Amino acid sequence: MDYALLIEERRSTRAFKKKGVTADICDAVKKYHDNECMRLVPEIQTECFIAGDDAKEALEGAAGYKEFLVGAPSYIVILSEPHEKALVNAGYITEDLSLKLNDMGLGCCFVTFTDSEAIKRALGITSDKEVCAILAFGYGERLKKKMHFNVLTMSKISAKEKQQYFAPKKGVFDLVYTDSFGNTDGVSEKIDFYGDPLWEPLLAASNSPSYMNRQPYAFVINDNRVVLISLPDEFTGEIDAGLNIGVVMMHFAAVARAYRGDALWTTGCCEVKDIPEGARVEGSFVI
Ligand SMILES: Cc1cc2nc3c(=O)[nH]c(=O)nc-3n(C[C@H](O)[C@H](O)[C@H](O)COP(=O)(O)O)c2cc1C
Repeated sequence: MDYALLIEERRSTRAFKKKGVTADICDAVKKYHDNECMRLVPEIQTECFIAGDDAKEALEGAAGYKEFLVGAPSYIVILSEPHEKALVNAGYITEDLSLKLNDMGLGCCFVTFTDSEAIKRALGITSDKEVCAILAFGYGERLKKKMHFNVLTMSKISAKEKQQYFAPKKGVFDLVYTDSFGNTDGVSEKIDFYGDPLWEPLLAASNSPSYMNRQPYAFVINDNRVVLISLPDEFTGEIDAGLNIGVVMMHFAAVARAYRGDALWTTGCCEVKDIPEGARVEGSFVI
């Protein structure tokens, strides 16, 4: 897959054609999950469950922004064994699956949820693993602004959240510091521009989907490492925060691979100066 291109062109799909996806496509998606998909922590066991037909009705009330659930012909549910990095790993896997779906001509959108057991009950999932991510998918309709209308009519959404929905993505220079958190001196010298082995992965990272488009993270370039910091965010709950981090790590790594072979994120690790209260070092990547 041409990850750089897929990432550049991706956007969430929230309106789908009625035409469902075939059993062959579901099999291909499951096989991709089982055998090929990029993983952050390969030893964490995950399962890919696909729900079709009545899933939208069943999930109503258990998943989606406030009371609005993206209506799709099918939903991918990623289940994971419990692990400190289960959510981040699931975000990583699910974003790779979402780019695979785009590559297959399908559209998709993450769907938020808070209660794994409620999702399992709703969909009749008997696995003892926990639900970590949900992706609505199918053939996309070309209906611009449909979701904007839905957001505006959602009763429980605050004006601040609505504004956020319309906010553009952060650019590379909004996300990157050098040496310490908040220091922008010398950033442009370090990352150059198009075609640069550091610029391209950071550009891919800046194109990441995130819960409510909040992008609550930043990168600090420290010597020979890029360090990813998660930032506290008043709107983003624990599950979405973990998934956001997995997604942005996946975008960075997928594009960095073109320059650095099989380079990977190291989770945990080093300290970064001046990070805000509530922020956390999520991992580092040798550059
Ligand atoms: C963890 C996570 C949860 C999300 N949950 C929802 C959701 O429940 N409903 C929805 O419409 N979009 C959801 N999104 C999609 C974001 O709103 C979307 O990625 C963001 O607005 C940026 O738009 P884009 O994906 O088109 O680039 C979610 C994204 C992530 C990463």
